[in-house]
Amino acid sequence: MHALDVRELLIGCQFSSLNMEKRGFDLRTTAYPMPVVLVGSVVNGKPNFMAVAWFSKVSSTPPMMMVALGKRQYTGEGIIENRCFSVNLPGEDMVLETDYCGIVSGRVEDKARLFDVFYGESVKAPMIRGCPINYELKLVDTVEMPSTNLFIGEIVGAYVDEEKRSGEVPDLTLVKPFMLIESPPNHYYSLGHHVADAFEVGKRLKLSKT
Ligand SMILES: Cc1cc2nc3c(=O)[nH]c(=O)nc-3n(C[C@H](O)[C@H](O)[C@H](O)COP(=O)(O)O)c2cc1C
Repeated sequence: MHALDVRELLIGCQFSSLNMEKRGFDLRTTAYPMPVVLVGSVVNGKPNFMAVAWFSKVSSTPPMMMVALGKRQYTGEGIIENRCFSVNLPGEDMVLETDYCGIVSGRVEDKARLFDVFYGESVKAPMIRGCPINYELKLVDTVEMPSTNLFIGEIVGAYVDEEKRSGEVPDLTLVKPFMLIESPPNHYYSLGHHVADAFEVGKRLKLSKT
């Protein structure tokens, strides 16, 4: 049975799941999937990349993204130094390199040796040609948290591999991003199937016509 049909059955049962018992869990557990990206910066004159799961779009106009980096991360030093960075979305075929960039610091090993690195026209943000989607960003703000810096950047360039597009936009079924499921054990998962049309399916529950 399709997932949507199951949900409609539940609606028919007058939201019976609302009566479900709840139980607390460790507050630090991120119990939802997080896409993994490689964040790049130039540190001490050389490109460096780290795996990042704590990132998000934070504004559409102008387009902005935020990455949350531990204060000790080498990549963060480059972002502060050059006031720019990149966000590169790897496909499943890059899971090995991505994980490596998440367990080894650029202080210790040259991680950029693994990649064909390129730059856009405007900023000093190293990007990875092997990642099907790349964003280059100019740092606009830094928010200091107890153990992380939130680097907020304005997107000044966005690139996709020619063969991983549908029309003018990236086709994620071709890009094949992967997600970190942190709640133990730590695993990477691929995209699932289409569930329903966003901003559309919910209209079926609207009482008003507007
Ligand atoms: C899947 C994955 C996701 C990660 N996400 C983050 C993150 O969002 N923020 C962070 O500070 N570290 C994150 N890390 C850890 C860093 O990637 C790791 O500490 C890395 O070695 C830092 O590299 P650098 O010192 O060269 O900057 C993640 C690691 C993995 C494996």
